[in-house]
Amino acid sequence: MSLPDSVSILGGVSLDPPLHVAVIMDGNGRWASARGLPRREGHRQGVEALRRAVRAAGDLGIKVLTIYSFSAENWSRPLEEVNDLMGLLKRFVRKDLAELHENGVRVRVIGDRKGLDADVLALLDEAEQLTADNKRTTLVVAFNYGGRQEIARAARKAAEDAVAGKLDPASIDAGTIEANLDTAGLPDPDLVIRTSGEQRISNFLLWQAAYAEFVFLPIYWPDFDRAALEAAIVEYRRRERRFGGVTARTGS
Ligand code: FPP
Repeated sequence: MSLPDSVSILGGVSLDPPLHVAVIMDGNGRWASARGLPRREGHRQGVEALRRAVRAAGDLGIKVLTIYSFSAENWSRPLEEVNDLMGLLKRFVRKDLAELHENGVRVRVIGDRKGLDADVLALLDEAEQLTADNKRTTLVVAFNYGGRQEIARAARKAAEDAVAGKLDPASIDAGTIEANLDTAGLPDPDLVIRTSGEQRISNFLLWQAAYAEFVFLPIYWPDFDRAALEAAIVEYRRRERRFGGVTARTGS
């Protein structure tokens, strides 16, 4: 008898996976500094960890994996580092897109497309279009992403619809905003993982993570692997989710 591929066993604990896991991939720079290496090398190893994370998420039956790959605030880093990160994204899409597609991964990009170079934009569009019908796992790439900016864009869109007479302002509710977010149609994250030991949300999925469980792992992102993901899920499964009520409810 074998286990269904959505369930694995870690020390006797059944790993029924959450539906949506979101990850703040933090600590690339510190990983590199600790080894006397340039920060660029930390980001390069971060991409390897990302590959492991996508594979492990698929194997564990996680349906949606969101990664925070470049924040709206990351533009304030030195130009050389911004260029390195852009280069890594381009290489990741060019090198890995075919494999992601073969493995049934659908790519979706969230964040502000304005201000991105044409070659980056073209690659992001290509990744979304090629994989649009895939069903196994959705990889949501948060790129040039900020939660406050996303909510502001959604509010602006609702205001424009109201001015155009397509929306009654009195009818605006949480559902209206949700439908205008970049993540429209995606489930909210059940589990948000942040590596590196920092315990902050850093403008990531501010709206969507309203009832997410947070697990902070004391490892730098380049050391992330399947065992780390399993450990986070085990911790998540220990939590009691009440969604503002008094009794435990199953999210997923
Ligand atoms: C945080 O480490 C990581 C980032 C700012 C970006 C995450 C990027 C990758 C994993 C590689 C690029 C992948 C793609 C797809 C673009 P940090 O630099 O903030 O580390 P520190 O806090 O230790 O300095």
